[in-house]
Amino acid sequence: MKNVRGKVILGSIIHSTNRGKVEFLKNALLMINADGKVSDLLESSSPNYSKILNQSKSSNSLYEILDHQYILPGFTDLHIHAPQWPQLGNALDVPLEVWLQKYTFPLEAKYQDENFARIVYSDLVSSLLSAGTTTAVYYGTIHQKANQILADICLNMGQRAIIGKVVMDNPEECPGYYRDSSTNEALDGTSEFVNYVRNNPKNSDNRVDVAITPRFIPSCTDEALYELGKLAQRHSTYVQTHCSESDWEHNYVINRCGKSDTEALMDYGLLNRSTILAHANFISENDMELIKDKGAGIAHCPLSNFFFSDAVFPLRRALEKGLRVGLGTDIAGGPSMSILDIGRSAIISSNALESGVNTIVSRDLRGCVDSRIDFNDAFHLATKGGAEVLNIPTGSFEKDNFFDAILIDTEIDNARIAIQSNADSDEDLIQKIIMLATRSNILKTWVDGLIV
Ligand code: GUN
Ligand code: FE
Repeated sequence: MKNVRGKVILGSIIHSTNRGKVEFLKNALLMINADGKVSDLLESSSPNYSKILNQSKSSNSLYEILDHQYILPGFTDLHIHAPQWPQLGNALDVPLEVWLQKYTFPLEAKYQDENFARIVYSDLVSSLLSAGTTTAVYYGTIHQKANQILADICLNMGQRAIIGKVVMDNPEECPGYYRDSSTNEALDGTSEFVNYVRNNPKNSDNRVDVAITPRFIPSCTDEALYELGKLAQRHSTYVQTHCSESDWEHNYVINRCGKSDTEALMDYGLLNRSTILAHANFISENDMELIKDKGAGIAHCPLSNFFFSDAVFPLRRALEKGLRVGLGTDIAGGPSMSILDIGRSAIISSNALESGVNTIVSRDLRGCVDSRIDFNDAFHLATKGGAEVLNIPTGSFEKDNFFDAILIDTEIDNARIAIQSNADSDEDLIQKIIMLATRSNILKTWVDGLIV
């Protein structure tokens, strides 16, 4: 079975419609319409269940999955540096400000070469789809052609994507070999990329969209930042940038702007409901209020934070305040391309934040109380949380959402998840899948009801 448009899936469905709770529906019927959207999700107790089951059997539209298979929503990765794919797993030995200049800018400069871009980006997008990432939010590079190639590849492979031409025009922070040649060129390139994506004949269903992408405040001039704020409003695009990531970055902005990243982004016109802030580790209470007020979202990148941020993001505090949060791999800041891994990193880092880590400090002073999250929250962040940040109808199987989904099999050779069908509760089973599933357990990925 490949595409499931117009089909009815019978089997185990796992999704989360509200924070804090993952639902497990056994022998459920998930109905997908001809446009690839969920038209209904029926539990076996539903009055229409038998009728729909019989109808779909007789019309040959039933797709029955096996006992050890589970349908989950596809994952949303809110923060990926597409050009850093060749660096995944490497270059983790120096602080952010050194890492950028020593490894990352030299690598990103190579995307001047269209051939290189095509090879890397094809491999990246197909790898992410096989890891279950149905929606990807990408930073490209400064190069027009390479960014267009990334958009074309997402359209050809069917991944839902938001892509940004990276703006970095500040000669004080960006090397001559990798910098927009002028502020005007950076702005024109941004508008040109918006037009390329929005007017692409293959993009009639808007599966790929654009984010205005000032890399971060240090890499941009004030003029570029103000003008990008206007462009985002004029074209109604997303905005993505790094926010208060590390001590160095947070303090750079305070020294240059006399305020925090969040306050500065607001003043540049870059903080709104369509903004995705990566990291946001060092945000103050006031910053949190501003982010909530403006409706901006946060891409929590817990694995990358272990390497580059000097701190752990106060995830639970942000969630309890009602901020929108999803997950990001931050390829290649974090050495994983799997949002499942990142969900686990979110759990682990929240535990470390709660307990504290330095044994020289006494237990009662070591940690931050009430910081832990569990697998229910991690699952929600990976699926519906990310979709809510982007304001798109995916991430759960509620009626009218796009059927963006994965098929997990727990009985794959060499990737078996030891579920005890007679002893494990539904909650045990869900937790095992979230904590143990790997790319090998993902047998299929669908976007819009089409296999990708
Ligand atoms: N800040 C500015 N650029 C980058 C980047 O590429 N990765 C991360 N993690 N932080 C950044
Ligand atoms: Fe990043």
